[in-house]
Amino acid sequence: MNKRMVIVSNRLPIVVNQGDDGTWNIKAGEGGLVTALEPLMRKNHGVWIGWPGCGDDAPMADLLKQFTSDQGYSLQPVPLSDEEVENYYRGFANETLWPLFHDLLGNCHFSLEQYRTYELVNRRFAKMTAEISKKDDVIWIHDYQLILCGWYLRQLLPTRSLAFFLHIPFPTPDLFRRLPWKSQILQGMLSYDLVGFQTLRDHRNFVHCVTSLIGGIEVHSRQRHSTVLKWNNRLIRAGHFPISIDADDFIQRASAKEVDEAAWYLHENYEHRQLMLGIDRLDYTKGIPERFLAFERALEKYPEMRQKVSLLQVVVPSRTMVPDYIDLKTQLDQLAGRINGRFAEHGWVPLHYHYRSLDPVQLLAHYRTAEIALITPLRDGMNLVAKEYCACSIDNNGVLVLSEFAGAADQLGKHALLVNPYDVEKAADTLFQAFSMPSEERRRRMTLMRNQIKRHDVHRWLDTFIKAL
Ligand code: UDP
Ligand code: G6P
Repeated sequence: MNKRMVIVSNRLPIVVNQGDDGTWNIKAGEGGLVTALEPLMRKNHGVWIGWPGCGDDAPMADLLKQFTSDQGYSLQPVPLSDEEVENYYRGFANETLWPLFHDLLGNCHFSLEQYRTYELVNRRFAKMTAEISKKDDVIWIHDYQLILCGWYLRQLLPTRSLAFFLHIPFPTPDLFRRLPWKSQILQGMLSYDLVGFQTLRDHRNFVHCVTSLIGGIEVHSRQRHSTVLKWNNRLIRAGHFPISIDADDFIQRASAKEVDEAAWYLHENYEHRQLMLGIDRLDYTKGIPERFLAFERALEKYPEMRQKVSLLQVVVPSRTMVPDYIDLKTQLDQLAGRINGRFAEHGWVPLHYHYRSLDPVQLLAHYRTAEIALITPLRDGMNLVAKEYCACSIDNNGVLVLSEFAGAADQLGKHALLVNPYDVEKAADTLFQAFSMPSEERRRRMTLMRNQIKRHDVHRWLDTFIKAL
């Protein structure tokens, strides 16, 4: 793509930290959104606008200069006060929109003060974007934290082409209408020229929501992957564009010597047993307690799995100031203790539970080593870990156990072992099925999934999206 890209997301793709000796350092961030967009920005030399995620005592100008020269694209920070982080990020984004859009109404909090701060911060992002962007730039806003940015940008740049991509699911009208600010959020989404979703279901839910909850809207035309809506004399295209990974890059990096060595060491630790792997941010949407229960039930029901399998669950700390996340951590600690207390035997610990992130080499080594991946969210926009696991299963011998409620099930569901994470009994049976799957069948299924991911990689995702724009 020739045009310069201006990406706007809540978080810049960085983590800024201060070491014990007082020195500041900057490194690439984590999460699906960063993984998908970072390689594209490196090629495009664009600008990324977002919150740096740290207080204002960090020497941002120097750190950003260092990052820009290393990565080849520039970062434009939008500072947030502690109160804004509390009300906009922790509050409205992560305690209202996040659970609502993941169909988890019980986790939702509704607060007018938080909504007002969400408006204010979205307006600030829009102002910064209007100042930084040039006439021919592609302006692309990302995710639920910044839906209203389009509404304010449309007022500042009435004729500019604006795109939006929602990385998380979009709920049905029945759920969405519980939101006290439903009209404002939908009108925010209708301010863009192109609104992208992960799945056909999300795309349809959105069209149902706007046609049933917003007056004066009409469906102008329908195509296979998109719907054109007419509202306030403007045409808005909504479509589904399943995000993916840079498959070739993952395959190449997974084959590197240092990954090979790290995978070998890891394998040594689990000799004569199969390794089941879970890698998730600590998030109640990821279905981790339900997964632990299914594992416990499998050990109970299928004693032949004991000593022969270990579950290694990596939980990456996330949103640690949200009370529901703190409670989840306590719940996981207790469940892990209970399962190991019940089943551990001399020389065998059934469940290894690590609360930290992995460096890139270790992450790839874990993907390569694990015989089985357990990706069982209660609901997920896509779940890139599922695709990364398959890409890195370079010997084609991994088994993917995948929730039917992950967006990735649309692409991989035919060849993965699908589960309903709420159905502990059947999920336990599926774990046993994965454990006992013959190598021929593993190879056949994994080859087909890897071919799918190689064909539909992140470059194709970007091309399709930009063409639609
Ligand atoms: N990830 C990472 N370090 C870790 C664990 C995960 O960088 O220790 C990355 C992983 O490679 C993936 C992303 O975090 O690209 C998680 O994306 P996913 O779509 O699975 O879930 P999200 O966290 O966005 O909900
Ligand atoms: C998901 C969301 C992203 C978010 C990421 C990490 O992938 O879709 O928008 O950046 O999680 O969450 P955090 O709250 O730490 O930014």
